[in-house]
Amino acid sequence: MKSSIIWLGTLLLVLIMALAACGGDSGGDSAPASDAGSAETSASADTNLPTGDVAAGEAKFNEVCIACHGPGGEGVEGLGKPFTTSDFVTSQSDAELLAFVKVGRPVGDPANTTGIDMPPKGGNPALTDQQLMDIIAYIRTLHE
Ligand code: HEC
Repeated sequence: MKSSIIWLGTLLLVLIMALAACGGDSGGDSAPASDAGSAETSASADTNLPTGDVAAGEAKFNEVCIACHGPGGEGVEGLGKPFTTSDFVTSQSDAELLAFVKVGRPVGDPANTTGIDMPPKGGNPALTDQQLMDIIAYIRTLHE
């Protein structure tokens, strides 16, 4: 009687150890599944423009663009054109304005009206798309 209980106990112990070993194996390969989501987010960020923030744009404009386009974008004679009367700004989509500001409008461009260079990114190559979209949101508020 006593020996059969020990027997059963040993059998159970072996079974439990075997089950635990199986569970440990199959648990190992579930981890990499979570990577798929982040790849999707960065792909959609390329096609959607960041939303511009007017207040942040005003601050950046006052650092970078104000030298030529004047306070409040009223323009500076002999430098940048005014935004207060610019139908160019109103006629362009956000994507078009972003593309424009990145390239600028050199004197050699047939569309240049002043004989003065509009430098790419206002001469500040470090500006990001987000910062440029902020500035664009701001200059859209300047038209009178
Ligand atoms: C070094 C001077 C200078 C700086 C700095 C500058 N611009 Fe300009 N920008 C110009 C000039 C000059 C023109 C007009 C070019 C022409 O004759 O068509 C212009 C034109 C533009 C136009 C087109 C306006 C229109 O009605 O045709 C936009 C938009 C513009 N600039 C945006 C910006 C932004 C945004 C910044 C800051 C990131 C900036 N500029 C910085 C000189 C400058």
